[in-house]
Amino acid sequence: MAAPQNGIFALGTTSHTYLELDLRPGVRPASLVRTMAALREPRRTMGGVNLVTGFRPELWAAVQPADAPRGLTGFNAPRAGIDGKLLPATQHDAVLWIAGAAYDAVFDLARGIVSELASKATLANEIVGWPYHADLDLTGFIDGIENPPLAEAAQEAVVPHGQPGEGGSVLLLQMWEHDRGAWESLPVHEREAAIGRRRHSPGAELDPQPTSSHVARTNQDTFGAIFRRNVAYGNLTNHGTIFVGFSRDRVRLDAMLDSMIGADGTEHDRLTDFTHAITGAYYFVPASEALAACAAHP
Ligand code: HEM
Repeated sequence: MAAPQNGIFALGTTSHTYLELDLRPGVRPASLVRTMAALREPRRTMGGVNLVTGFRPELWAAVQPADAPRGLTGFNAPRAGIDGKLLPATQHDAVLWIAGAAYDAVFDLARGIVSELASKATLANEIVGWPYHADLDLTGFIDGIENPPLAEAAQEAVVPHGQPGEGGSVLLLQMWEHDRGAWESLPVHEREAAIGRRRHSPGAELDPQPTSSHVARTNQDTFGAIFRRNVAYGNLTNHGTIFVGFSRDRVRLDAMLDSMIGADGTEHDRLTDFTHAITGAYYFVPASEALAACAAHP
């Protein structure tokens, strides 16, 4: 089985940068893939950083057709739901997620990489992420509690053995801007009903579960499991959640998004009354071996 990129599962990192890149006009996609595949994190045991590299699915398929999941496409059109809910499409050509124990190492590596790639790609969107009180997101609730444990995560988040793109993963990357003032004006029991869990540790699930709660609208028993690595972003004026979701296919992620915006015509996720997506892109994160092969054989 081809091994997934390690950084997807490297928990415990507290500084994050996501660089979304666009191919410069006239540059061959294969040339960008080769250069990005050759990027390496600094060789350090302590205070090191992880690098996760992904590509717009169509770009990767053009360069490595045999190693691309069939029919996988980018976030090429906005998704519309009921009650005016809209998920924007802001697809770019490539992504780098750099994560480490401290922002100095992440910053230096990100800077070096952007300058190394400068002749081939432009930096289209840069998101800096930070943890909010360990496992909370900016709603004040524990985020990731229903993630599959690491021993099972690859089964859900990685393309299985024998399938095109084996060892790779589909990444959904979105920025969700929060209206924290409106959220905090809700009494705690209404916030709990919107999420579907109790606020305080261990964040027990509500019973009965409101059908419009976020947990009900993204129920993994219904849609299949995914592996989330969300963190907070922003400053006092604009802030929110960076949704970083890995899946073995795009179907699960699409189904969750459609359920959140009520695209099936039933109801929308109550959480989306207090947060809205401002970006959205899908990337294919190839297996380590597939990436290494690109660096070795352009
Ligand atoms: C502002 C954006 C978001 C916030 C603040 C947020 C927050 C949360 C929180 C607090 C939970 C409950 C604890 C947990 O199980 O981890 C949760 C569950 C979950 N969320 Fe989100 N989420 C956001 C967006 C999304 C999106 C866009 C997706 C999918 C595309 C998603 C998928 C899930 C899944 C699968 C679960 C677990 C559901 C289950 O219990 O089976 N979330 N989220």
